[in-house]
Amino acid sequence: MAWYINAVFYELYVRAFADSNADGHGDLTGLRQKLDYLQWLGVDCVWLLPINPSPLKDDGYDVASYYGIHPHYGLMEDFQITVEEIHRRGMRVIIDLVLNHTSDQHPWFQEARRSKDSAFRDFYVWSSTPDKYQGVPLIFPGVETSNWAYDELTGEYYWHRFYHSQPDLNYDNPQVRAAMLDVVRFWLDLGVDGFRVDAVPYLFEREGTLCESLPETHTFIKEIRKVIDTDYPEAVLLAEACMPPDDLLPYFGQGDEFHLCFHFPVMPRLYLALATGDRSSVVNILDQTPPLPTGGQWATFLRNHDEFNLWLVTPEEREYLWDIYAPLPEQRIFTGIRRRLAPLLNNDPRKIALMHSLLFTLPGTPVLYYGDEIGMGDDVSLPDRNGVRTPMQWNNTANAGFSGAKTLYAPVISDPVFGYQQVSVQAQQADVNSLVHQVREFIMARKRLPVLGSGALEWLGDLPKQALCFWRKSDNQQVLALHNLAAEPLHVQLPESVILHDVFTGETVSGSVVLDVYGYRWFTATP
Ligand code: GLC
Repeated sequence: MAWYINAVFYELYVRAFADSNADGHGDLTGLRQKLDYLQWLGVDCVWLLPINPSPLKDDGYDVASYYGIHPHYGLMEDFQITVEEIHRRGMRVIIDLVLNHTSDQHPWFQEARRSKDSAFRDFYVWSSTPDKYQGVPLIFPGVETSNWAYDELTGEYYWHRFYHSQPDLNYDNPQVRAAMLDVVRFWLDLGVDGFRVDAVPYLFEREGTLCESLPETHTFIKEIRKVIDTDYPEAVLLAEACMPPDDLLPYFGQGDEFHLCFHFPVMPRLYLALATGDRSSVVNILDQTPPLPTGGQWATFLRNHDEFNLWLVTPEEREYLWDIYAPLPEQRIFTGIRRRLAPLLNNDPRKIALMHSLLFTLPGTPVLYYGDEIGMGDDVSLPDRNGVRTPMQWNNTANAGFSGAKTLYAPVISDPVFGYQQVSVQAQQADVNSLVHQVREFIMARKRLPVLGSGALEWLGDLPKQALCFWRKSDNQQVLALHNLAAEPLHVQLPESVILHDVFTGETVSGSVVLDVYGYRWFTATP
């Protein structure tokens, strides 16, 4: 079984994790000092948000050089040591691969915009009018008004799907494709175990289309995959492509494109099910989820570094989710919500546990977002999505133990509920009933139950709508996971002719069980 099928990923932002040299920015040395924590938690693979040199207008997703490390984070040697230290602990590491665009500070773009005759002009997508590719949606509505930006220097427009400081690369140019394959090899040679590939659908543009998921994109992804299969067979490609599962299926190819794709639409439906006390949206989306080619796996998550994205729900569901989970205008951004997991759930420990239980038992490889395992808060007074990217809260000393600097890249959360004075790794490690211990227990249980990584999903029938109850089954293991989405206890009749053992308490049960308000239970079954 490929390692990523039953792994737990942990997404972190080097800048936010730990600052070793008191300059106010987290760095790779700081990360190395915290690897024991990640190992203790049970993380299998660390995903680092962009670490390349960047003006940080989009937190590193605006790459100014693919071949370096941002000076705040350390030297290339730091990166190499960090990779070695991660591997020494039996963990792996993937990094972001930002294919679609660069920063406007990247030398390629600086050179391209110098003149229409520049040798690098064709690295980007230019037009004398902003009329091409009409109808292509805006990804950052409210901030950008067009996918074209006018360049004063040469009097032409360049194409950008994200901020105008992120010009799209021109994948029709074979030099661009070759350059990015070199980038892929460079980081794999340094020992990374793969990539979270950013903004995958947008690589090519064609008139008369939405410029998304074009056949040419698949051809190029296959080229990347070939490099991996030929020379780095253990490495993985994880796609960020925010689409319904049917549209994502092609990104697995015949097992010759991505190993993993984020299953975006599950996430908002988990929150919807919890808010309505009705499982149907989760059941529907998973019933619509096609089987994957061998070696393919979904990646699932409760929150990430971006807004809680509401693209893939109906307009009515979107309004409902906004009303429930982002009642204040400042909690909303783009087509989504800029809040963290614990505040979204009113810091209700029962709901936080329930959502984690779903994450760890439904199909897919779970991806945790740093800080959510201790229930960190957010700060909506910060611009953009920065409010969910504040410093990790290690202990209750100044700056949450994140840094010895006077000024930090962003303030630590210090409000009365979510502040580091209350919420920190140290405080929770000392309390066996804390969230971090609970998350760790889920992770440890999952490691003992490989069926949760690869088993088939089967709903437990004939239950009231607040019951989200299902089997995960493989040839040699069966797990029954019960979840109560409602604020009243729930009586569940258990299947007959099996003996069920509670995964966490060892208790043997039969007949029926009563789930607490927002309760969950996991059982292994012996026929
Ligand atoms: C992805 C990233 C997001 C970034 C965008 C542009 O969606 O997750 O943070 O802004 O790509 O690179």
